[in-house]
Amino acid sequence: MSNILVFDSGVGGISVVREIKQCLPNVTIDYLFDNLYYPYGELDEPTLINRLVSLLKGAVKNHPPQLIVIACNSASTIALPALRAAFDIPIVGVVPAIKPASKLSRSKVIGLLATQGTITRTYIEELKQEFAADCELINVGSNELVAMAETLYRGGDISSRRLLEICNPIFQQADVMILGCTHFPLLANELNKIKPQGLTVIDSGKAIAQRVQELLNVEDSDKKTPDGILNHRALYTKSVSDTSLTAALFSEGFNEICVINP
Ligand code: DGL
Repeated sequence: MSNILVFDSGVGGISVVREIKQCLPNVTIDYLFDNLYYPYGELDEPTLINRLVSLLKGAVKNHPPQLIVIACNSASTIALPALRAAFDIPIVGVVPAIKPASKLSRSKVIGLLATQGTITRTYIEELKQEFAADCELINVGSNELVAMAETLYRGGDISSRRLLEICNPIFQQADVMILGCTHFPLLANELNKIKPQGLTVIDSGKAIAQRVQELLNVEDSDKKTPDGILNHRALYTKSVSDTSLTAALFSEGFNEICVINP
């Protein structure tokens, strides 16, 4: 049986957890979210890198996983080299799907919806130069959308009008929109209601799940627990009094929720 650690600042990485569960139904998942430092899209780069290395070092000490998924574009686009240097287990990162978007786009105008942090990374410019040099990239950075996804996940309401205002520069110009933040697939139903018909929306979730599947030992990851029950844990770094979040996590399939102080 395999155990993996999936990590984000908030509930965004749940969009990746869902894809992993589809691909690997017998793998147990620890979902660590760093709500103490949320939102990552607003942290400066050195602070974010130091936080990630120290947090994950502490987190793996007591419960070593076979693999770590950094289910956060804001973190992966800056900290993957430092994290890979600090751990000797495989680390899978999530970065915006610029390469597939450039292949899909006919108009060669693609939109990147991400956090403010992600759109300013030099890594994004490098990805564009390498895989989408023939495309125009419309960058929309919004930390507000992250907060909207957090609200929606807890069963709250969000404003479609505001969602439209934020996405409009992409809706007006692009034929492919990349969800470059793992929080944004959680807004997929709302986005589908307001997006132009011809616009294709993509994210990296499925590709990440496939990469995890490739890296895990097939026999272990297929093996069921003796009682058939998988112990998926949700781990916070700061306690929450929010019962709507706890309820959402239980209904997501997490059966243990606790605070860790790594
Ligand atoms: N889910 C994170 C991402 O993919 C962003 C969340 C945050 O800004 O804290 O970029």
